Amino acid sequence: MADRPRIILDCDPGVDDAIAIITAARWTDLVAMTTVSGNVDLDKTTANALRIRDLMGLDVPVHRGAARPFAGEPFHARYVHGMSGLGDIDLPPPSVSPDSDDAVEVIVETTRKEEGLHLVPIGPLTNIALALRADPGIAQRVASITIMGGGASGGNVTAAAEFNIYVDPEAADEVFRAGAPLTMVGLNLTHQVRMDAGHADACRGFGHRVGDIAAQLIDHNVDVHALGGLPGSGAMHDPCAVLAVSHPEVIRSEHRHVVVEVEGRYTRGQTLVDERGRMSRDPNCRVAYEADADRALELILQAVREAPNA
Ligand code: RIB
Ligand code: CA
Repeated sequence: MADRPRIILDCDPGVDDAIAIITAARWTDLVAMTTVSGNVDLDKTTANALRIRDLMGLDVPVHRGAARPFAGEPFHARYVHGMSGLGDIDLPPPSVSPDSDDAVEVIVETTRKEEGLHLVPIGPLTNIALALRADPGIAQRVASITIMGGGASGGNVTAAAEFNIYVDPEAADEVFRAGAPLTMVGLNLTHQVRMDAGHADACRGFGHRVGDIAAQLIDHNVDVHALGGLPGSGAMHDPCAVLAVSHPEVIRSEHRHVVVEVEGRYTRGQTLVDERGRMSRDPNCRVAYEADADRALELILQAVREAPNA
């Protein structure tokens, strides 16, 4: 299809990662998927990326990446994504193994072969930071690094830190300081894009397997958010980062300087947005503030409805 953005999706599937893969398959040229330890361990995030690839019948390589953060122990979100990482949806195990165990090398080599790719990390930033360490020139070769992570107003793991940043603050700090064209699609944005039982019913109404699986994922997300005190709907975080690349008009953002706190007793993992220029540093990031939520939800549902192999 004409000039769809070409992306590498770095993910930790993950219920919302799975919806993001469906969204990316429809609205981008998905060059590769790379996996990272995050919502669940690396074996499971990789298996889940392969399971969704099988479901969609995608011809997209999946490469395993980092099994642990730069510092500390892996931290998972099974309380949100379930033991499998995809709730309890009825998907068979992967039909094949990942295409390689070297996600970092693939990111480096692919961005060397082709300038203008978008890196779209929707999990912890370990792979991206490792790739930038291996070849800092990535920062100048990519069209963007558009992350789901962080945020401009509080966290979801601690009062300050969002999960993807909290898991590996050191990696996030290196990515934010790399000088790449960075867009942060954080919790302040993604909580505007919420899916509920009506969206799940719409997906079931498409009458195909992808729709059924998407409905199960949305239902799981609603149930988990209800347990977390946000009844009725669930924020659909990761697809927002994909749409920020494929449909930039859906999101309003502002240039800001953003730093990642790696020390703070209460604030480790915070993405601190310098809203008033108090740090006298040039902006290093486009911070997403406002979503056209209706349009975003329409695009996500259309991606499910028109899924290949449906
Ligand atoms: O905080 C939300 C983010 O953490 C999403 O990417 C979700 O998949 C988890 O990885
Ligand atoms: Ca994720």
